Amino acid sequence: MIKVAVTGAAGRMGSGIIKKITEQEDMEVVAAIEMPNTPLAGKDAGLQAGIDELGVEITGSEKLEETLKASGAEVLVDFTIAHAAVDTIKVATSCGVNVVVGTTGFSDEQMAENIKNVKENNVGAVISSNMSIGVNVFFNTLKKLAPLLYDYDIEIIEAHHNQKKDAPSGTAMTAFEVIAEELDRDTEEVGVYGRKGLVGKRTPEEIGVHAIRGGDIVGDHTVMFVGEGERLEVKHQAHTREVFIAGVMRAIRFVPTAEKGVISSMNDVLGLE
Ligand SMILES: NC(=O)c1ccc[n+]([C@@H]2O[C@H](COP(=O)([O-])OP(=O)(O)OC[C@H]3O[C@@H](n4cnc5c(N)ncnc54)[C@H](O)[C@@H]3O)[C@@H](O)[C@H]2O)c1
Repeated sequence: MIKVAVTGAAGRMGSGIIKKITEQEDMEVVAAIEMPNTPLAGKDAGLQAGIDELGVEITGSEKLEETLKASGAEVLVDFTIAHAAVDTIKVATSCGVNVVVGTTGFSDEQMAENIKNVKENNVGAVISSNMSIGVNVFFNTLKKLAPLLYDYDIEIIEAHHNQKKDAPSGTAMTAFEVIAEELDRDTEEVGVYGRKGLVGKRTPEEIGVHAIRGGDIVGDHTVMFVGEGERLEVKHQAHTREVFIAGVMRAIRFVPTAEKGVISSMNDVLGLE
């Protein structure tokens, strides 16, 4: 049985992950953590997730270290918010706990801190801005298309629900980085985030990234390769959060066996190139 701790236990993703873990035969929820000094402290994590009582009480993250140690967690799954996740990863890795992190919106400095903590504590880690299997095939497709369509104008459009806090989405940024890397373009120079006013002619190198927010959209990503007289669009649409959660289950099984001290990707989890 893989013993799993979940941070963001009452969140949209966290509660879905808790529910899904209870349906697996090879893993169990041993700790459920929420924001510091949460009013949910002491509440049963199963009841909070809308399922039967689990016998695991929600704790505030101010008690993260003692909760992890007392629970014997082997894997911590984090779907929270970037600044909180950096501290959570630091504490979990220092306790020797492997981490599966789906939280998005890390700055370069925050990601560097995560990499440092995983390395110094020599644990397994999967950090991915999108855990869906389809999206990871989407990234692979972009990797193959970009060199073929190198002189086409490239624009990325993402759409998410109206509660999403960060923009552009982590997935849009990964798509952007994959394409820029394949085309040997500097992400600092070629990213154009929305356009307004007299912006001048589009340069051939720039890659536009645009964010739409509305209603209950789970997550759409479109990459347009626009040439003279034709365009090719690659689109992924997530219909339900279940697609991410299915990927999380695979990452939980993978991470105890992952190479220690480095951050693995969903490509590693799924065995994609
Ligand atoms: N990688 C993926 O596949 C994927 C998929 C969906 C969402 N996400 C990302 O996951 C994150 C969470 O998304 P959500 O829709 O579940 O958000 P949400 O707001 O519903 O849930 C986040 C939860 O984290 C809790 N939290 C905040 N600080 C905490 C702390 N220090 N310790 C423990 N818990 C804390 C909040 O109280 C909240 O319950 C976002 O960054 C989102 O972009 C990633």
